[in-house]
This record gives sequence, structure tokens and C-alpha cells, in this order.
Amino acid sequence: MKQPGILLQQLVCWACPHRPRLGALLLLLFLSILAVSGAAIPTSLDGPFPPKTVAFDTSLPRGSEDLPHWHPRLVKRVPSIFPEQIALALSSPDCLWVSWVTGDAQIGPEVAPLDPTTVASEVHYGIQSGNLTWVSRGSAEVYSQRYPYEGLLNYTSGIIHHVRLQGLAPDTKYYYTCGDSALSALSEERWFKTLPHPSPNNYPSRIAVAGDLGLTYNSSSTLDHIMTNEPSLLLMIGDLSYANQYLTTGSKGASCYSCEFPNSPTRETYQPHWDAWGRFMEPLVSTVPMMVIEGNHEIESQVENVTFASYNARFAVPHQESGSGSKLYYSFDAGGIHFIMLGGYVDYNRTGEQYLWLKNDLERVNRDVTPWLIAAWHPPWYNSYSSHYREVECMRLEMEALLYEHGVDAAFSGHVHAYERCNRLYDYELNSCGPIYITVGDGGNIEKVDVVHADDDGQCPTPLDSIPEFGEICPSNFTTGQAAGKYCWDTQPEWSAFREASFGHGILEVLNATHALWTWHRNQDFGQAEHGGDQIYIVRTPDVCPNLRTRKQRRLRDTHLHDLEPVCKRKLNYLGSKNQLVYSKE
Ligand SMILES: [Fe+2]
Repeated sequence: MKQPGILLQQLVCWACPHRPRLGALLLLLFLSILAVSGAAIPTSLDGPFPPKTVAFDTSLPRGSEDLPHWHPRLVKRVPSIFPEQIALALSSPDCLWVSWVTGDAQIGPEVAPLDPTTVASEVHYGIQSGNLTWVSRGSAEVYSQRYPYEGLLNYTSGIIHHVRLQGLAPDTKYYYTCGDSALSALSEERWFKTLPHPSPNNYPSRIAVAGDLGLTYNSSSTLDHIMTNEPSLLLMIGDLSYANQYLTTGSKGASCYSCEFPNSPTRETYQPHWDAWGRFMEPLVSTVPMMVIEGNHEIESQVENVTFASYNARFAVPHQESGSGSKLYYSFDAGGIHFIMLGGYVDYNRTGEQYLWLKNDLERVNRDVTPWLIAAWHPPWYNSYSSHYREVECMRLEMEALLYEHGVDAAFSGHVHAYERCNRLYDYELNSCGPIYITVGDGGNIEKVDVVHADDDGQCPTPLDSIPEFGEICPSNFTTGQAAGKYCWDTQPEWSAFREASFGHGILEVLNATHALWTWHRNQDFGQAEHGGDQIYIVRTPDVCPNLRTRKQRRLRDTHLHDLEPVCKRKLNYLGSKNQLVYSKE
């Protein structure tokens, strides 16, 4: 099914960058035709939209089991020294990371880590198939997941390689192989296409957004549908493999993150699940860059308080390129979009390194070059489902004002296993200059879809029902609005525009400096003539929102970020300790 946005993008991009006015006219013409034909897709300018809930389709199962490890999508298909689990990630605009695994992981009572210096990390590449004359070399590492308890097994990984290709041309198709040429152990030839360089006239064609994917039959459906939509970039917003649902023996240990492992001294993981997930993703991410950010399922605590060992070793992310000292938060550009990927499971307080990095990163954004500013992190700030309701209120209170001041256009999260799109808002109030928050934690993992809302009768959780895996809780009743004096709304909140409990993924198509089409695809709709998901044009309005303006526009209008009060700088007054936080606005 070809989306209307694809046709629209082709029209607009045909007209730009040399004929921007023609592009704008075509955009208006296209939207007008759609409106006349009755097929109009709403724009964010039509909002705020009245809250709408689509109930869970009870004819569908709420979840599915993981694929067995002998499933053809998960088995290792190359000899030990050959690359597998090949994946791409964006670096700086003319650079790209290529990652893969060689050798055999081990799991048992005693394991001996492989020597990562025994296999070279090479990528051979070029712009003609079969003529791969350029070579880049990188580094390799192994990680271990150790549990020093009687009866538990330890794991040590295969050799994980990361190579950074530099000096790539934009919008160019490259062919590549990876591996060790001295061992005659290079992969089969693959290809990728670089993204356009940062510019207000250049955008990736389609950006897939998914969260909480896992490795179930529903996950397979989601991944297949993402591939059908032919994205040029994939955002994976945390909770990737769900390896920590299993015992070290591979037996099922818990059905959910908060569930106990009753007969185990610790929260176990089955790390071969990660290798299976790497094979599962390879058909897509060896051709399309995947940008990951950590979720709670990536914490994976082990001996000596080590956390995130698998996440940190397996994924190359542009943290150093973006000035971050941690893979748990970073930023990157994709055409005229600046993405910030935030860590919900690492210090987010205003005195911490992540906040300082974020502040510096946002101040460096040049919206003359990258008009769009999009953020992503795993646990949502705005969520009307009972599951994880207001769980990361502390993170929101620390960071929301900064994102608002700098005019974030949209923010994507996962964690909640359902879909929800918010009206533009700031600090729990509708605000036409605030971001559009979207939750897409409905990738299809083994924990099943979330169907209960916090405003359903008797379903308002207490703060102690939503304890985050990192940080404190910041409980408070609302002081203003429809829910004043309460912890939950009695009906779907006015900021929640659309919510539905179904598995799926989203596609973002940025068309120009002001318009982007967002489409949420429900898995059960694929192959159907009617699209039953959710679609909206996200429209930026720098003409009326000072926080969205470019430096040039601010100069022309003599506005600066520090002039935005009271619209943008509503101060929060903290009364008492964080755990009994009450706040009010000046
Ligand atoms: Fe999560």
C-alpha cells in the first residue's frame, strides 16, 4: 500500500530545493485535492483534537510467544569466523558505523572470553557492485555477562566489530562487505544508501519508529511491515531483545519486567537471545541504519554492579561524535532533522552530565540548517494508560522546560505497550508551541499489549504502582485543570488526542521545513485497502512560536530564547522533598 505521503514527498522533493515556492504550491494543491476528495489527513493546525480511544480488538490475541531459537530467522547461518548480525548506524553526516559479530558466543558454568585481536575489523566498500576498492578498519571487543551464583550460567560474547566509514557522499548508494580478508572471511556483499546532508531542503524519505519490539511472532509481523514500508532510517526506542525475560538456561523466567524470578538469587538474562535478535534484525539493519536508545530491559544488572554490558558492546552510536560521554544519550543529524536521543535510565537531573550535554547540544542546533528537532527516549512523560502511568515524572520535571525552550517539534517514546498520540502540550497543559508526544511501545514483545487506561473506572494507579527502574518518584496531584486535586483524570485527558492498544509501528515522512506526515500502522491492517491506524501532518509554526525560530528569524524579529517568558519559561517551584513534590507555576 503506497502512502499518500510518499506521493506527496515525491511531488515536493521534485520541486525543491531549486523551486521552493513551486514545492509549497504543490503541497497546498495536494492537501486541497485531498480535502475536496474527502480523504483529507488532519494537520496539527486542526488541533487540539478531542480525545479519541479505539478499544482493543478482542478478536485479536493480546500477545504471542517468542520465536523458538531454532526458527530460521534466528539461527546462525555462517561459519564461525564469518560476520553475522551485521548492522548499520549513523555517525556524523558523512560517516556511518558498520557493526557485526564473528566467533561463537559461549554460555556455561565456566567461559573463556575470546581474544578480539585475533580477527581483523575491515569494511571493503565502493559505489559499484563487485568493485569495493576502499577499505576502512575499526576495532573489536567482547563482553561477558557473569552471575556468580550456584547453578547459574555465565556468558561471553562473540567478537563484536565496529568500523566507522568516513568521507561518504550524501544520497549515494554504496556496496560493502565486512570481515577479515586475511582469513578469507568476508561477508556477502550488502548495500546501503547514505542520507542527504543536513539542509532545510533535504530529508530522509521515510523514518520508521518502533519501540519494545522483542522477538515474538508479533515482533516478526512488525518487522516485516517496517521492511514493506522501505524506510531509509530506523529509530528503535528501547526494550530491544527482552533477553532478561529468561533464565541463564534459556528457560522462561518471568512474564514481565517487574515480575519476580522466584527461585533465582538475581534477575537473570539469557544472552544468546541477543544474538538471536541480531540475526532477526540483520535483513533490515544491514541495509538501513538503526539508531537505538536504551530501555529498562537493556539495564541487565550483573556482577560488580555492571549494567548495560550488552547494549554498550553491541551497538555503535554517535555519542562521541555528538560530544556525549555515554552511549546512553547522544544526538545526530539526518538531513534537515536534528535528533536527540535521551537516557531515561541514567542521571537526568539538572546537575548531571546528561543535562549539561543536552543543554550544550540544543544550544548548538542551527535551525537554519536543521529546522526539525525531534527527541526520543524510552519511558514516556505523557501517558494515559495505567501501565507506567506518570512513572518518570521526575525526568519530565527536570528536562521538559529545556526541550520546550528549544522548540522540540515531536518526541517519541516506548515502554507502554500501546499507541498514543498527544495534542501539543507543555507541563500538562495544551500549548500550540509544545512538542507532539507520541508513544509507540507497541512493537509486539512478549509482555503483551497494554489495554487499561488510568481513567478507566477503578484503574487509577498509585505512585507506588509505577516505580521506575532508575531514579526517584515524584508524585503529586494536579493543581489545575480537569484533574485538579487528583492523581488521574476521570476521562481521557484533553492532551491525549488518540490512543489505541494494537501492535504496530510508525513512519515519519518529513516533507519540508514545516510539514511532516506521521503514520501509525496497525499490524492487522497490512494488506487491507482501508488504513485503520492514525495519520496526521505535523506542521511547524515558527511564525507564531518563537521557540521554533531559526537564528536568522530570531534576529529579524529581535527575539531570543531568554525573551520567551512567560510563554516558555514557566518556572517550577519545588516544595518539600522530591518524593512529596508539589509544584506550581509562576
Ligand atoms: Fe520498557
